[in-house]
Amino acid sequence: MPKSDKSAVTTYPINDLLANRWSPRAFADRAIPTEVLGSIFEAARWAPSSRNLQPWHFVIAARHHDADGFARLLSTLMGANKSWGKNASVLLVAVTEPNPDSAPGPNRYAHYDVGQAMAHLSIQAMSCGLFIHQMGGFNREKAREVLEIPDQYEPVVSAAIGYLADPSILSDTMKKRELAPRSRNPLAEQVFSAKWGQTHPDYA
Ligand SMILES: Cc1cc2nc3c(=O)[nH]c(=O)nc-3n(C[C@H](O)[C@H](O)[C@H](O)COP(=O)(O)O)c2cc1C
Repeated sequence: MPKSDKSAVTTYPINDLLANRWSPRAFADRAIPTEVLGSIFEAARWAPSSRNLQPWHFVIAARHHDADGFARLLSTLMGANKSWGKNASVLLVAVTEPNPDSAPGPNRYAHYDVGQAMAHLSIQAMSCGLFIHQMGGFNREKAREVLEIPDQYEPVVSAAIGYLADPSILSDTMKKRELAPRSRNPLAEQVFSAKWGQTHPDYA
């Protein structure tokens, strides 16, 4: 996979799919083949989860195959997310069940596990030439209403899936964000040695 301007700048090497993943806004007007989308959700399905409860569901709509469904999901996006989300090939809302009927007690890992399923899904998408842009900026109550999500379930995150397009399709503001370099906090701030706050010599 060729390095792009958006590839992660790392101190230690990481897998190309991880290095090249980023969250674009410019999506191409291109449908995702059924088998490719299937692979993406299979990847999520096989994510690990606490007690193997698999507390994730995905409400999806493909723009090229279900315009009404896509419009419903799009209507839940807030602000700028709506302006570029309309170009995605597929929109999704990931939903969890914090208090599952099938297990005793609340599932403390429900949201954690949805995040992990989304991570699997994102990397599988990358391996198929697709990109995911996750969005917390969506109206959960509206999603509950227009997608008819029952009370015991909770919308967690929305996401756009699609193939990359040229940033020139975006507004000037969005283009600027699209072209901005990606950044991360240093490993030294994220990995401690044996106790909280203690710098690890390998990551100093
Ligand atoms: C849970 C979550 C919520 C996010 N919400 C939004 C959002 O509402 N709008 C947006 O443009 N990006 C959103 N993002 C994307 C992040 O801004 C992005 O992942 C972060 O800036 C790092 O950039 P990168 O993914 O290109 O490495 C979200 C990402 C996650 C994981």
